[in-house]
Amino acid sequence: MPAGPSDDDVVLAARELYRFYRAGEEETLALRGVSLRVRRGETVAVVGPSGAGKSTLLACLAGLDEPSGGEVRVAGVRISHRPETERARLRARHVGVLLQSHNLLPHLTVRDNIRLAQHAVRGRPAVRAAALLEQMGLGRRSGALPRQLSGGELARAGLAVALANSPAVLLADEPTGELDGVTEELVLRMLRDRAADGCAVLIVTHSAEAVRGADRVITLDDGRAREGHEGHEGTAQAKESSHVLR
Ligand SMILES: Nc1ncnc2c1ncn2[C@@H]1O[C@H](COP(=O)(O)OP(=O)(O)O)[C@@H](O)[C@H]1O
Ligand SMILES: [Mg+2]
Repeated sequence: MPAGPSDDDVVLAARELYRFYRAGEEETLALRGVSLRVRRGETVAVVGPSGAGKSTLLACLAGLDEPSGGEVRVAGVRISHRPETERARLRARHVGVLLQSHNLLPHLTVRDNIRLAQHAVRGRPAVRAAALLEQMGLGRRSGALPRQLSGGELARAGLAVALANSPAVLLADEPTGELDGVTEELVLRMLRDRAADGCAVLIVTHSAEAVRGADRVITLDDGRAREGHEGHEGTAQAKESSHVLR
């Protein structure tokens, strides 16, 4: 692969990802050779019908799942094809993961959920839990348990956990799927802010609003990816990089 001047900016790279599931006689090919690259500061929306392989892709990118073939690199380090403990360590250090629900452990307060995430990375946290909660407008809810939060607060708390270690890469799987319009707008704005700070953001979504805000759109269909139209706010940098998906 020729090294362009901006290749250093690629913080998330997947090469020829395959994922087979086997259940008895039945074999599902959830990913059939997906390659993508996301640069610092870039927001990529992944769209596609149910069953297309979006969640499988995100799990492989996050190191939560192992691809059957291909490779994932995060911040220049291979995260795929490693023991689970090593993947977890790399994920904690470099990747924030935001799921529709279950981002928080139910028996811990919001503050302790963040501290637990930070505990997975050695050294002093890049950001203080209190400061992060303040940014999310949750300063006064830091001692609350997840079940005591409203839907909007829960969404922001989940995002705070995903951002606990100031990750280079933020992966979100339909994060606004169950949110009202106001909260959706809030979460999307926070994702945009992160990208503006240099984070690479990849968001699986059905939201037209999220697609509009993206620099690039990747459509997954039956385990195959193609680069779709650009989000309306596509930047010159994103246009230049839109050829990288092969
Ligand atoms: N753990 C699993 N075991 C077997 N098949 C699975 C598993 N997870 C997903 N699949 C299958 O893989 C395909 C892609 O699923 P998924 O990645 O969840 O799609 P999407 O998120 O786009 O709806 C589907 O056919 C689904 O049934
Ligand atoms: Mg899914």
